[in-house]
Amino acid sequence: MRPASNVKRIAVTGAVLGGMTAVAILIVGCATKLEHTPADAATIKASFAAKGVAGLGRLDQDEVQRICTQYADKTLPPDAAEKIQQSQSTDIKLPASGKLIGNWQAGEALAQEGRGLQSSDKPDGPQGGNCYACHQLTHEEIAYGTLGPSLYNYGKLRGNSDAVLQYTYRKIYNSQAYLACSNMPRFGHNYILTPEQISDVVALLLDPQSPVNK
Ligand code: HEC
Repeated sequence: MRPASNVKRIAVTGAVLGGMTAVAILIVGCATKLEHTPADAATIKASFAAKGVAGLGRLDQDEVQRICTQYADKTLPPDAAEKIQQSQSTDIKLPASGKLIGNWQAGEALAQEGRGLQSSDKPDGPQGGNCYACHQLTHEEIAYGTLGPSLYNYGKLRGNSDAVLQYTYRKIYNSQAYLACSNMPRFGHNYILTPEQISDVVALLLDPQSPVNK
């Protein structure tokens, strides 16, 4: 009995000390303002090792990413935003068929597919859009992230005009054509999805038969 109660006391003391350390870290943490410095980029570079499909090349920022990092915690000046949106809107390629709206079932599979481009993924394995990580899309799927707005009833609310079709395709191809420094990946620009796959995801959003609009 005695050793057991000693063990208990040690455990309790440990927990109290642990709690105090946590409080101390919290106080220090609050006092330190997080700032982006060039040292951060060097630290990230030094600590990131190439593994599988995740090569070191992805640490090289393009001009858009460089500007977005520079203004990460500041307001992006309107002329810089305009310049980014302009440059990104000229980069959009259409499917060879010219059809911007494909098959919603294929689109739903792509929206659900989270694999692709991670260090543990096979180069010839599936590569999806992982849309549910940031958006609600259908009523049936209850596991979704909320970084992006809900897209449930997207087509029902916006209709099927050519302007809506063009906007939806182009937005998914290159989100920054409409919103500089958006948190949404540039799916076409960065070869995450092909133009044909983007047209399938467009169908998921706009087809009246799609569960997004039910
Ligand atoms: C990492 C998070 C993230 C992922 C993954 C993501 N999005 Fe987004 N999306 C956002 C955010 C944030 C916004 C709002 C800001 C903006 O408009 O760029 C957005 C906006 C949108 C919009 C515009 C909505 C409107 O009201 O006009 C559409 C359409 C869209 N996303 C579709 C998709 C589709 C389809 C996929 C999957 C292929 C996807 N998104 C994947 C974060 C994401």
